[in-house]
Amino acid sequence: MAKSDGREYFKARAAPAATSEARGEAHSPQQASGLDAAPKPEQDAVAAQAELGVMAISLKVNGAAHSVGADPDTPLLYVLRNDLGLNAAKFGCGLGQCGACTVLVDGAPVRSCITPVGTLGQSEITTLEGLGTVERPHPLQAAFMAEQAAQCGYCIPGMIMLAKALLDRNQQPSEAEVRLGLAGNLCRCGTHHRIVRAVLKAAQTSGRI
Ligand code: FES
Ligand code: FES
Repeated sequence: MAKSDGREYFKARAAPAATSEARGEAHSPQQASGLDAAPKPEQDAVAAQAELGVMAISLKVNGAAHSVGADPDTPLLYVLRNDLGLNAAKFGCGLGQCGACTVLVDGAPVRSCITPVGTLGQSEITTLEGLGTVERPHPLQAAFMAEQAAQCGYCIPGMIMLAKALLDRNQQPSEAEVRLGLAGNLCRCGTHHRIVRAVLKAAQTSGRI
């Protein structure tokens, strides 16, 4: 899968190429003569979107179909948070290095800050919001609460999604396997021991996560 850098994406957007209007060029003989009517706001909006590469993109997230207007290079994380209001996945490094933005794509853990939304096609995307509810938490969510496995909580959505992928592959992992499986996700609060205990508890309390 092609990768883009979340930070580079916004740098590029922050310095758009000068438009023909900004360069003082005329678009048509009517404009050159100053006789044409002012463009309608809708036309301006469509032209601006086309200039930014915005197109309609279909996504399946947590079992629901969505269509969003976005540049296909936009990181999935921004679409989840800004367009769909799914704020569990977090922006940490924006470089694919911390795991705070981890979601599942067809069951595999993916760093959404470096995953271009245009590469996902009909894949099934799962975020933390798709696991459980307040009334019926997923066994992993219940275990994280029982073990108080969070301090600031910023890394936890990514940790739980990575743990979900791990337990889907291996229902009864050893402690060493859990530590190895979660090693790529960082926790600045140092909550690792509690996180590992929570994942082991979830594996014990549910034969199938
Ligand atoms: S925010 Fe995506 S890996 Fe750090
Ligand atoms: S609980 Fe704070 S970063 Fe992990």
